[in-house]
Amino acid sequence: MSDKLNETRRFLAQHHGGNGAKAAAKTVSTHERNHDTDFWAFWRTHVPAADSLNIADLGCGPALFLKELADQHPDYRLTGIEIAPYMLASIEAKPDNLEIRVSDLNAPGDMVFPHHSLDACLANMLIHELFQPVMLFRALRHWLRPGGVLILTDMVRQPLDTFLQHKFPDTDFANAELDAPEMNDCFRDYFEHNRYSAEDISNLLTLCGFEVLELQLLRQGRATRIAARNP
Ligand SMILES: C[S@@+](CC[C@H](N)C(=O)[O-])C[C@H]1O[C@@H](n2cnc3c(N)ncnc32)[C@H](O)[C@@H]1O
Repeated sequence: MSDKLNETRRFLAQHHGGNGAKAAAKTVSTHERNHDTDFWAFWRTHVPAADSLNIADLGCGPALFLKELADQHPDYRLTGIEIAPYMLASIEAKPDNLEIRVSDLNAPGDMVFPHHSLDACLANMLIHELFQPVMLFRALRHWLRPGGVLILTDMVRQPLDTFLQHKFPDTDFANAELDAPEMNDCFRDYFEHNRYSAEDISNLLTLCGFEVLELQLLRQGRATRIAARNP
């Protein structure tokens, strides 16, 4: 196992709260909210169904999205990329047309997929967990066929006070007794989940050569959903 891969795994173990099984279970429990009817409408607008598509889910977690897609489209070729051992362990039984690969998406290189081989990719709640997304965006330009589409959903920057009020509802910050380690964790969590604005992500995609097709703000502006095309 390379040092870089282990460094990413150590970061993710901490980012996911230090309890991998719990983090995997949470990803399962939030799957429906993250892939609701609005998500599927957005997906189908930008990735129209076809007889056979080659699709990847980047940071696929327990791979529930890909399993749903496999059910709907047994002819699709589906690949999940994941690095966290507890997420990989949660995948369990796979349909025949689903393959899972272990790769570090911080520095994926061009070789994870052949040149221009993918029709579409999903990156759902992945980008904020990367040290930087530039190397992935550049690799995607290589993997996606011309006209191929990236669908990206992620948390985006929100004001610190509203984040604190959401984390500690009904807390009087002026007078209540507060716990310093809990506050330390909360601030680390804030900076790890509020790295980019929606505009930052959109502009980075453009900088890396993508054409942004659509940008939605979700959850009162706390998240974004973007479709971007490899020209
Ligand atoms: C918040 S979870 C979302 C999982 C899944 N996309 C979903 O929506 O249910 C982010 C996933 O990305 C994976 N991930 C984060 N950084 C990664 C990296 N550098 N390489 C590969 N996977 C990564 C995490 O392990 C985790 O499973």
